[in-house]
Amino acid sequence: MAKTVAFIGTGRKAEKASLSGYAMAYTHAQGYEALDDVEMVAACDLVQENVDAFAERWGIGQTFEDYHEMLAQVQPDIVSICTWPHLHEQMTIDCARAGVGLIYCEKPMADTIGGARRMLQACDEAGTMLCFNHQRRYGAPFRMAKEMLDAGRIGKLQRIEWGGSNIYDYGSHNFDMAQYFNDETPPEWIMAQVDYHTESYWFGAHNENACLGLIAYENGVFGLVATGDMQGVVACHNKLVGSDGVIELGSAAEGAGALRVRSAGESEWERIDTDGEGMHAQEYINRAIADSVNAFLTGGRSMMDAHNAIHGTEAIFGCWESARLRARVDVPIEAEDNALNAMVEDAQLDPRPEAAKETS
Ligand SMILES: NC(=O)c1ccc[n+]([C@@H]2O[C@H](COP(=O)([O-])OP(=O)(O)OC[C@H]3O[C@@H](n4cnc5c(N)ncnc54)[C@H](O)[C@@H]3O)[C@@H](O)[C@H]2O)c1
Repeated sequence: MAKTVAFIGTGRKAEKASLSGYAMAYTHAQGYEALDDVEMVAACDLVQENVDAFAERWGIGQTFEDYHEMLAQVQPDIVSICTWPHLHEQMTIDCARAGVGLIYCEKPMADTIGGARRMLQACDEAGTMLCFNHQRRYGAPFRMAKEMLDAGRIGKLQRIEWGGSNIYDYGSHNFDMAQYFNDETPPEWIMAQVDYHTESYWFGAHNENACLGLIAYENGVFGLVATGDMQGVVACHNKLVGSDGVIELGSAAEGAGALRVRSAGESEWERIDTDGEGMHAQEYINRAIADSVNAFLTGGRSMMDAHNAIHGTEAIFGCWESARLRARVDVPIEAEDNALNAMVEDAQLDPRPEAAKETS
């Protein structure tokens, strides 16, 4: 019998997605629609017209405003959580306790590191598989980069570098990719600084304007993250630096393409054909959902598993924690909260809205 799928937070499909409404549930639904062994049966949103439009688009029979009611009445096998990050923890824990078998939740894991740990613990205790939508692992450029790395194309991996707008919302993907490239090795310690003076909200959460961080992994590999104004120092999405060469993904250099490699001593880059795939694609979400559902059905483990995602999440919160303590921090960090939020709340950081800055 087909496994039943329900959604929490359908969003409203807009012509152009924005940082306050991507309607990621639609991208998840596309993933489930491609599968034979699942059936989308219920959806829930606080906004009635959102859930109605979603149900109509995907042919879903039951709609709810209250997700507790949906869990109790429908008892779904699988739940996609597509709400903003500060809601993920409670919703995940409630789903696990309601007996959901697979939770496929949007990234970032939670709005505090303690919340991320509690979600994972609740799911482990309930025997629930918890996955996060870090879909890039299923993109050809990323997979091919990992294959080249594993084949020794750049020698021994020494350093992973990544850029991007921030370490949390967008950065969640890059920290997760670092785990992927580094064989899921946990971070050991972190030293970082952040700059946050212009208010930056992504899906209801503070994100720093710039961060420069050094992450030491347990296997001796280093991570270097540079976000916001500082991302130019990396100048690509992800860079793998080895003893014998460099691999770059999504380089800002003209004509670089999605993936290129250069061996030590060579002046020319070799551009790799990625079959038309770039940094982003709906297809990556389809593959990630297919793999997660397959792992759930067969008792396997997907790359999207929270036991992988937690290490990147520890590193994200570790960067902010290092800035708060003005110190190198060991991972797992002792703090349970969100150091960036705490620094804003006690006025150590004073991010002002863009408009207020312009008039001051
Ligand atoms: N994986 C990716 O590439 C990617 C891309 C963009 C966004 N995201 C992430 O997706 C997540 C969701 O963002 P979005 O922009 O799709 O959200 P959205 O704003 O489009 O939709 C969220 C919906 O949740 C509903 N909601 C809020 N509280 C609820 C509750 N208690 N019960 C039921 N419904 C509730 C809201 O009414 C809203 O319709 C965020 O964590 C974001 O970071 C991921």
